Amino acid sequence: MTFDTLPARSISTSLPFDTLAAQPADALLGLIALHGADNRPQKIDLGVGVFRDDAGETPIMRAVKAAEAVLLETQATKSYLGAEGDAAYTALLAGIVFGDKMAVERLNGVQTPGGTGALRLGADLLARANCEAQVWIGTPTWPNHAPIFAEAGLATRSHRFYDAASGRIDFDAMLDDLADAHSGDILLLHGCCHNPTGSAFSPEQWRVVADLCAARGLIPFVDLAYQGLSDGLDEDAAATRMIFDALPSALVAYSCDKNFGLYRERVGALWALSANSAIAERVRTNMLSLARSLWSMPPDHGAAIVRTILENDALRADWWDELDKMRARLNGLRAALAATHPRLAAIADQRGMFAMLPLTLEAVAALRDEHGIYMAGNGRINIAGLRADTVPVFAHALRPHLEALNGHA
Ligand code: LMR
Repeated sequence: MTFDTLPARSISTSLPFDTLAAQPADALLGLIALHGADNRPQKIDLGVGVFRDDAGETPIMRAVKAAEAVLLETQATKSYLGAEGDAAYTALLAGIVFGDKMAVERLNGVQTPGGTGALRLGADLLARANCEAQVWIGTPTWPNHAPIFAEAGLATRSHRFYDAASGRIDFDAMLDDLADAHSGDILLLHGCCHNPTGSAFSPEQWRVVADLCAARGLIPFVDLAYQGLSDGLDEDAAATRMIFDALPSALVAYSCDKNFGLYRERVGALWALSANSAIAERVRTNMLSLARSLWSMPPDHGAAIVRTILENDALRADWWDELDKMRARLNGLRAALAATHPRLAAIADQRGMFAMLPLTLEAVAALRDEHGIYMAGNGRINIAGLRADTVPVFAHALRPHLEALNGHA
């Protein structure tokens, strides 16, 4: 029997996908296509968060190229590894994240497809452990955070933490909002280089966050996607290490997209800390069974590159050196942009790839239409998209919109 000869009654009247509502395209990823379609040579791409060098390129890091050459020569098989991925990669990366002080018997790590995979695996693990838990997410945040937790079936709640007018942390507002959190709830934290604000808690504020989690039974879930791009590899992991030292249970979702420049390879990891080794063993089996049903096994190539870099002293040193220069470039651009207008002063103190400018949606659209300057609708800019010669161009285009805020445009 072919489809043509199927009796009419076997075709359902309500088609299965009829129930689906159309979804808006991802606004951030949409900027890639919008910018690509703009033919103006002077256009400036401050949209999606990828590192760019002085020539405006997103280069493959030297150590990555060298590691790929090593892999080409030495890799003997592409056979399956298992749901945990490359265990040597995860162990070497754990050294970068946690330093040499690790509660190994309470800590489980698995390789994941990017930081997004790590967040989703962690969300599924938390939902399986306690489907009543709410996830507290500071506003603003990366637009994919809430959907990841919601798709895992967890309720999300937002809390304040940032004062947009001053570009600084509003810690009191955060503590006020978190007064509604219940024991067992999850607190999502950006380990460093906050996306989109670039703001950071002081070490004292991190300590208060850890104490709050301990006192109220909250589980911290750290998103660490930019290690090395704020102040240094160890410095950028200090808050995560302190949290993991202070609390019985915590998670960290890690991304190698930015600090290894491996964006499209999808390289990440999830670590979960448990109260004791017996629980840790159960957590391990749950992480593996969830990973198996989500993606079976993570893609290998990017993780093999990271492993090859981290197990070779010369490649590791070269990666570190290039990362130092990337960070210096970002911080230099921050200082240059901050100096162009008093309204931008906080950008010099912020860190990482992003800053949020006090711009209306109309101003963002006008900058795009009139000047070919692309940024996220909330005024987030990718600092790395600037160059020494485009900082004044950008500042000039920005000036009327900033002056309008002062009421004397
Ligand atoms: C960004 O925030 O621009 C990046 O993390 C890319 C992404 O996946 O959204």
